[in-house]
Amino acid sequence: MSKATRRSFLQKSILGGLFYTVGIPILQANNSLESVNLDSEFKLENSNYDKIDWKKIRAQFLFPKNRQYLNTASLGPSPRMVIDTVCKTIEELETTCSHGHHLTGKTHTQIAKFLNTSEDEIAVIRNATEGMNIIARTLRLKAGDEVIINTHEHVGGAAPWMALQKDLGVIVKLIDLDLDGEKNLKIIKNAVTSKTKAIAFSHITCTNGMKLPVKEIAAFCRNKNIYSCVDGAQALGMFPIDLTDMDVDFYTSSGHKWLFGPKGTGVFYMNKKWIKKLNPVFAGAYSDSKFDLNNLTMEYRDSVQREEYGTRNTAISLGLRSAIEFINTIGIENVAKRGRELSIYFRKGLSAIPGIEILTPESEEFSASMLTFRIKSKDNLKLNQQINSQYKIRLRGIYENNLDAIRVSFAIFNTFKEIDNLLLALKKITTN
Ligand SMILES: Cc1ncc(COP(=O)(O)O)c(C=O)c1O
Repeated sequence: MSKATRRSFLQKSILGGLFYTVGIPILQANNSLESVNLDSEFKLENSNYDKIDWKKIRAQFLFPKNRQYLNTASLGPSPRMVIDTVCKTIEELETTCSHGHHLTGKTHTQIAKFLNTSEDEIAVIRNATEGMNIIARTLRLKAGDEVIINTHEHVGGAAPWMALQKDLGVIVKLIDLDLDGEKNLKIIKNAVTSKTKAIAFSHITCTNGMKLPVKEIAAFCRNKNIYSCVDGAQALGMFPIDLTDMDVDFYTSSGHKWLFGPKGTGVFYMNKKWIKKLNPVFAGAYSDSKFDLNNLTMEYRDSVQREEYGTRNTAISLGLRSAIEFINTIGIENVAKRGRELSIYFRKGLSAIPGIEILTPESEEFSASMLTFRIKSKDNLKLNQQINSQYKIRLRGIYENNLDAIRVSFAIFNTFKEIDNLLLALKKITTN
């Protein structure tokens, strides 16, 4: 092989990676998989909120009708069309011996549209934790630099920064938040010093479902040359999100919670202003726009999709696309409204039960479709187990930040009847 031919071969195999594996063409153009037909059977007759058939939506989920699952904040079950997409894609890819990387572009388009941003700012990753790790390492912080996190962060949102503390001597500053929501912007602003390089925080906290003022925090960070790093694991799919309007530096989320996407999917966003300035931590096939092994030169793509290096699981990427299509069929505003209505209904019922303390702010400005509460004189983690085993209602105990509380998630498949059942159970428990 001449030098020029070898270079061209190497460029093809590493750059494109589509038709060659160790120099052997595994697919000819005429039998490659051009597309997977993902036409959905699921259609709603009406997206006018008052006329939505919620029973029809519930019927798209596989878990039994009598299973009372109010824990989407931990794991969102996938509707039939997502499962079908994943299965169908695996089958078609296996039939044609293709990894199907070239099909994943439609997922980026779908996510970008859903979040009002550009495709080049979006990558599909494995989960929110991976996203926060990418952010933490991409910033190339040094010993003595400060990062602010808070006591309401999930381990996946906090551990990547704590790892920097261990590895590099980065100082992680831990602050507490105001459970009413109102004072959080001020608390965060007050924690900043001249050494602060990044503030990492959740859009919605996993502890008490509290909404943080992302746009205001991002504006403050911009002004101070601090990176704003948002963990949207509990927000994406719960209500409309406009990344252009929020203008954060980084945003990451799971695909397998409120989006009801396949397990092992996540979304990563990097503001385009950083794409040329911050190099990726890992690189491989698809990270580059130019690659020349002989001359040891490489240029990165001007796209966050450079994070999707190497061979990936196309089926779950397309499944994530279907998950967003499913939500779009209902309308994200309608999804958000339903979650709010269920949450308000539950709050009203809870308030009538003596001895219950609600830990989630009431206003829509500071909360959405989750509610956390505790019964004062009880061990609430044990109580959560009792509710699960005795009343067959699946919630989540909140041990984080020593809250000793119980979290309820209100998703599109949940019903007012389920909330009545939960309230009845709580009344029985509190009167015993
Ligand atoms: C706020 C928050 N961040 C991160 C995670 C971790 O998500 P994943 O498992 O997708 O990494 C969770 C999971 O509950 C979470 O609530």
